[in-house]
Amino acid sequence: MLTDLGRRLRFLLVVVALGLVACGEPQPRGIPVETPQPAATTAVAVDPVSPVNIAHRGASAYAPEHTLVAYALAIEMGADYVEQDLQLTRDGVLVCLHDTTLNRTTNVEEVFPDRATEVKTGGETRPVWRVSDFTLEEIKTLDAGSWFSEEFAGARVPTFQEAIDLVKGTAGMYPETKAPEEYEALGFTMEEELVRVFAANGLDTHAGQAATPIYVQSFSPESLKRLHAIAGDTYRLIQLVGGGQEALLGGEGLADVASYATGVGPAIALLVEDPSRGHAARAHGLEMHPYTVRATRLPAGYADAGAYMRYLFDDLRATGVFTDNPDLFPRR
Ligand code: G3P
Ligand code: CA
Repeated sequence: MLTDLGRRLRFLLVVVALGLVACGEPQPRGIPVETPQPAATTAVAVDPVSPVNIAHRGASAYAPEHTLVAYALAIEMGADYVEQDLQLTRDGVLVCLHDTTLNRTTNVEEVFPDRATEVKTGGETRPVWRVSDFTLEEIKTLDAGSWFSEEFAGARVPTFQEAIDLVKGTAGMYPETKAPEEYEALGFTMEEELVRVFAANGLDTHAGQAATPIYVQSFSPESLKRLHAIAGDTYRLIQLVGGGQEALLGGEGLADVASYATGVGPAIALLVEDPSRGHAARAHGLEMHPYTVRATRLPAGYADAGAYMRYLFDDLRATGVFTDNPDLFPRR
C-alpha cells in the first residue's frame, strides 16, 4: 500500500513529467531583491530579514538529491529556495550534481564500465567516473534515482536549464559553483557559463529576479570574486565556509568577504564549535545561511529539526538555513 508521501511523490513525478510545476502564477517567497523597507511605525526593533528555507539538493531527505522530483517536492513543501550544485559535462553543459563524479548517485558503473579513470587516494587506487568525461547525451542515459529507492528508478540528472524551467516563478534558485578550478583547468569558466544561462532566461537583472530571487554560493572565494567582477551586485553571493576555512569567519576574513559577498554559509559544525562566529558574521552586516540541517543528524541536545532551526534564527541571527527537510522549517 502506498504511504501518504509515496502518493505525493507519484503525483509529483507526473507533474514533473508534464512540466506543469512552473506554469502556475509566480509566488515569490523569501527575501525579494531590493524590496523597499516600509518606514518604521513602532519603536520596536525588528530584524527586517525573514529567514529563508533553502532546500538542500531539493527535498533530499525524501527523494534522490538533484532530481526534478526532489526539486518539485521541495517547492511543494514550501521551500523559498531550491539549491543546485553545478558540474560541467564534457560538452560544457551545466548539470545539477553534487559530486564531480557520477558513481555515487547514478548507475554509470553499469552503463559505462570501461570509462572510469583510476585515481589514487591515501595510497589506494579506485575507479571514478568524472562528469567532465561524459557528454550530456551520455549522462542523460543514466538512472539517477534507483540508488535512493526503486520508487525513483529512471530519474535523470537534470541540466541547470531544466532546473530553471521547473523553479522559475515559483521559488528562488540557489546554485553553487562546484570545483570551478578543476573545470578551469579543462578550459571552462563556470562562472561565465552560469551568468550566460541566467541571462538567457531573463534572470540577469533585479527586475527579472522579482519572482525568482537568486543567490550564488561557493566554497571558492576566487569563484565568487570572479562573479562579483563579472556581474557586480546582480546576484547575491554567499561565501560557504567549511572545515579548514575558519579564517574566513575571523575579523579580517569577514571584512574581506564583505567586499565581494552578501553573506556567509558556515558549516553547522563550525557554529557548534564556536557560536560567536555567527554573531561576528552578522555584526559585519553579512547574511548567514548555515548548512545543513537534517532531521536524522542534529547537533547534540536537539531532538527536533524545527527547534534547532529556530535556535539558529533566534539565537545566532541566521537569515536562512540549508535543510534536507524543508517541510520542517519553522514558520512564525
Ligand atoms: O551549499 C551548502 C552546502 O550544500 C555545502 O555543502 O557539500 O552539500 O554542497 P555540500
Ligand atoms: Ca551545495
